[in-house]
Amino acid sequence: MKVAIVGGTGAFGRGLAARWREAGVEITIGSRDAARAQERAAVLGVSGATNEEAVRDADLVVLAVQSSAAIDTARDLAPVIGAAPVLCVASELRFEKHGVFPARDAGSIAEDVAAIVAGPVVSGFQALPAAQLAQSGLLDEDVLVCGDDADSKQLVLELGQHLVSGRAIDAGPLPNARALEGMTAVIVHVTRRRGGRPRGRGRRRAGAEDRLQVRGTRGPARGRRSVRPCARGRR
Ligand SMILES: NC(=O)c1ccc[n+]([C@@H]2O[C@H](COP(=O)([O-])OP(=O)(O)OC[C@H]3O[C@@H](n4cnc5c(N)ncnc54)[C@H](OP(=O)(O)O)[C@@H]3O)[C@@H](O)[C@H]2O)c1
Repeated sequence: MKVAIVGGTGAFGRGLAARWREAGVEITIGSRDAARAQERAAVLGVSGATNEEAVRDADLVVLAVQSSAAIDTARDLAPVIGAAPVLCVASELRFEKHGVFPARDAGSIAEDVAAIVAGPVVSGFQALPAAQLAQSGLLDEDVLVCGDDADSKQLVLELGQHLVSGRAIDAGPLPNARALEGMTAVIVHVTRRRGGRPRGRGRRRAGAEDRLQVRGTRGPARGRRSVRPCARGRR
């Protein structure tokens, strides 16, 4: 299977590329600049090309450009992407003094992308931090994915399972991307607050131990994790 990661020179795209390459997926990272793509790709042991070349003949296109460029990039590449499925990982956040907010008032980036490209769009992975993907080992959390097309959603769920030790969860139809994108603001907000201001010292960066993670209640499935008891009234 060939996966093209558009904007794969960024931290998140490189994290995905490294994980999926280890899982045996054929990866091409794309960039607006072929030389930059090839340089980053060589480090990761994958292929690098312009975004246009990367998406040609891809079985899945991951739109991993800076979130504010996702819609314009989808518009530019739509003729080359054709009917291939597109995974949208973007969420637009607004950082203000008193908190982190979803930058959108309505809809989602993923739905806007779906109105542009011919193939199905899946939305997911917004809550996985690039910094954690860059480290070794599966992330100890669940991953949420939504979309209207069952086959492409299944493909992305399988790829998600190469990223986390928890579950890759079907989060329903594509309009639920509004919640996934918005929830990223909540996760980043809480994580930053937990990183907080220790007594008597300046603000420190939130670390992995401060992170709010996506975790569902665990069922008995898959054998590789023990079932955690869930206290009454608590999730
Ligand atoms: N960072 C995270 O922790 C994280 C977590 C979950 C999801 N995401 C999502 O993943 C996506 C990528 O995140 P990131 O942190 O890797 O972003 P990033 O480093 O800011 O950008 C990724 C790539 O986007 C390309 N790019 C930048 N501006 C562009 C423009 N105007 N037009 C076209 N391409 C442009 C650049 O590639 P070239 O210059 O090489 O073309 C850049 O390397 C975003 O949608 C973000 O919401 C990020």
